[in-house]
Amino acid sequence: MLLIEELVKSYPMKGGQAVKVLEAERFEMKPGEKVAIVGPSGSGKSTLLHLISGVLRPTSGSIQLLGHELGALSEAELDRFRAKHIGYVFQSFNLLPGFSALENVQAAMGFGRKIPARERKARAAELLGRVGLGHRLNHRSHQLSQGEQQRVSIARALANRPAIVLADEPTASLDGANARQVYELLAEACGSEGAALLLSTHDMELAKRLDRVVPIRKLAPGRREDSAAYPHSLAQSV
Ligand SMILES: Nc1ncnc2c1ncn2[C@@H]1O[C@H](COP(=O)(O)OP(=O)(O)O)[C@@H](O)[C@H]1O
Ligand SMILES: [Mg+2]
Repeated sequence: MLLIEELVKSYPMKGGQAVKVLEAERFEMKPGEKVAIVGPSGSGKSTLLHLISGVLRPTSGSIQLLGHELGALSEAELDRFRAKHIGYVFQSFNLLPGFSALENVQAAMGFGRKIPARERKARAAELLGRVGLGHRLNHRSHQLSQGEQQRVSIARALANRPAIVLADEPTASLDGANARQVYELLAEACGSEGAALLLSTHDMELAKRLDRVVPIRKLAPGRREDSAAYPHSLAQSV
């Protein structure tokens, strides 16, 4: 379903130099698989997820998702592809301010244009029920706790029946018990919707609850240009 090969991402720096922040020789995911990318701050977790969602373009290498080589898609095609097939959960929730839980989830279906308009409200309510927010449908974002907001964003990520949900440190803003609960809801909800889950975290205990843990190493400063020193920052598995 997802196949990454010989991936490199460098960011251009002042003075024309490039700083390599991510290398992955090969990384594969099967449909419905749940994988945790674990690494410290600055190791390239967000960069990797942005590359897979097509928000960032790789410096070199290939990313194939659902049989599409992302590099072959135009920006407009990528926008459509992302809205249809990828759900995203951010560390900072990113809900539409002033809109209700229900409206936030329905809005995602509007962008995706995959779920027929007449089914959207019922599906939004069903997804919110599944993450334990059946009694909060009409609460606006700011009236919800942090954990509740993240649960809305889980429902939103699943709105368009995506093949994969990308979650970038989804529980880093939550306290321990809340983090565990949201983490489990995310994994369960992806499972019942048949979506694969690729999440990043620096919490190994939480990571171990998924099917597979993939460590990601920080490329050492000053040696980032030297790919021979750090040939595979992203291992296939542990
Ligand atoms: N737009 C950018 N320009 C230059 N360097 C960046 C940019 N975004 C991220 N980086 C650098 O890339 C590295 C990886 O960042 P990131 O993917 O955000 O890591 P993580 O999510 O694991 O904390 C860091 O050293 C960061 O400073
Ligand atoms: Mg990050």
